Amino acid sequence: MSKLSISNKKIDTILVLDFGSQYTQLIARRIRESDVYSEILPWDIDESRITKLNPKGIILSGGPNSVTETFTPRVPQFVFDLGIPILGICYGMQTLAEQMGGHVISADQKEFGHSELEVVSDSVIFKNLGKKINVWMSHGDQVQDLPDEFNLIALTNTAPIAAMEHKSLAIYAIQFHPEVTHTEHGQKILDNFIFDICNANTDWKMDDLISQRIEEIKAQVQDSKVLLGLSGGVDSSVTAALLHKAIGKKLTCVFVDNGLLRKGEADQVMQTFKENMNLNVIKSDSEEVFLRHLKDIDDPEQKRKVIGRTFIDVFDAEAIKLKDINFLAQGTIYPDVIESSGSESEEARVIKSHHNVGGLPEEMKLDLVEPIRDLFKDEVRRMGVELGISKEMLERHPFPGPGLGVRIIGEITKEKTKILQEADHIFIEELIKADLYDKVSQAFAVLLPVKSVGVVGDERRYAEVIALRAVETVDFMTARWAHLPYEFLEHVSNRIVNEIEQVSRVVYDISSKPPATIEWE
Ligand code: XMP
Repeated sequence: MSKLSISNKKIDTILVLDFGSQYTQLIARRIRESDVYSEILPWDIDESRITKLNPKGIILSGGPNSVTETFTPRVPQFVFDLGIPILGICYGMQTLAEQMGGHVISADQKEFGHSELEVVSDSVIFKNLGKKINVWMSHGDQVQDLPDEFNLIALTNTAPIAAMEHKSLAIYAIQFHPEVTHTEHGQKILDNFIFDICNANTDWKMDDLISQRIEEIKAQVQDSKVLLGLSGGVDSSVTAALLHKAIGKKLTCVFVDNGLLRKGEADQVMQTFKENMNLNVIKSDSEEVFLRHLKDIDDPEQKRKVIGRTFIDVFDAEAIKLKDINFLAQGTIYPDVIESSGSESEEARVIKSHHNVGGLPEEMKLDLVEPIRDLFKDEVRRMGVELGISKEMLERHPFPGPGLGVRIIGEITKEKTKILQEADHIFIEELIKADLYDKVSQAFAVLLPVKSVGVVGDERRYAEVIALRAVETVDFMTARWAHLPYEFLEHVSNRIVNEIEQVSRVVYDISSKPPATIEWE
């Protein structure tokens, strides 16, 4: 993908050097929220990559290590030699302090949570913010002695040096996390750095971005034809809409209906893209082939593999039927490609591309078009709104690739899929009606592999059990079960048992992640 540019001029960039913090991506997102472009690279990246990026400023992220140990990450010397502004956050501050001649110790007590920061000396980094700021801390080590060339600018009850600045160079460091929303004025502190200290321009605006991406796609694709696997998820939908604007009918989308989608989903995708937006969409009705391949399989990983492989086979078969395709478009987004410290992002990238293109025959020789590969999910959603995709489509809960296949515990059959689709539909419909859908992060029904006795009217009913699952989460790595109102659950349960005769019992899952996962399989 070409380097970002607006009218071929490189845009101002703030580089976040990643030392492995769980919050690194948040730093870049916050900067972009201020309309300044930001990119993340691992702390030990090649010098040439940074010089090519030509950043206006560098932020050193937090990280899980301790600078009191010898072999932990350090800021490469060339970063200091660039002479551009630097802001160290948490571990970034500690390594900065240690490398510049200060001293860091392991504190007796870890500090985690809210803390009152007292600003003791005027500094641009805290410009217009008052003397007391409620900040979010998460650290075990702390700076004990300032490096010679630094001034103390803020402290807390437990951290005698909670912020410092270089006496003559634009180097700043803070112990707390301005990127998390728990820190009061966190965005303003980052703004002070990017605008007042780095003088960065606000080059990162959604309107500009859409027209710029359209131009880039046109330049890359020219008169060729492009193929896209449309899943109905946010990323592939926004990619489709963007490409459609750029090249119109030269885009062909293939939508694989594997029979494991939510109730009405296939129709909704076709209506949105084919009828409303007039995209070229081919629907592949493949329920039977998926069911055939899944027959007798009850192991979750085996199911995932079979569904993945069948998807590729079906997609390839459709692609081969099309003539003169030169490009394959993918809805790859930034979290899929970030080369973060400590992550296996190379591997992640292989998984994503494997999922999408792995099976296409060599001789098709398709080049990739990935117009949103540098966007975060919230930016993709904002772009989707601008491109006219409905809010319902963009704000939908995530849906796993293997679909209902991993929500029917045990072997998958057409009958079971139908029961689960109905139960899931009732649950989601009621969540929307009760204004609870947007309050939970993901909600769905699961069909259990046991039967249970019930009484309906005068009749004994020995039938299926449905589990309802709803969670609240920010990153889907950890999650809390959603405390939905009892009356609501009662109403959903009644509807499911009354409307679906194959179901005799409904249970609600009250497990958090960890130790449970969000999906049951
Ligand atoms: P777990 O169950 O691992 O789920 O707590 C975390 C998030 O990932 C989704 N998920 C999947 N998504 N293919 C996908 O595309 C899968 O095989 C898969 N398994 C889980 C899950 O829905 C949740 O949002």
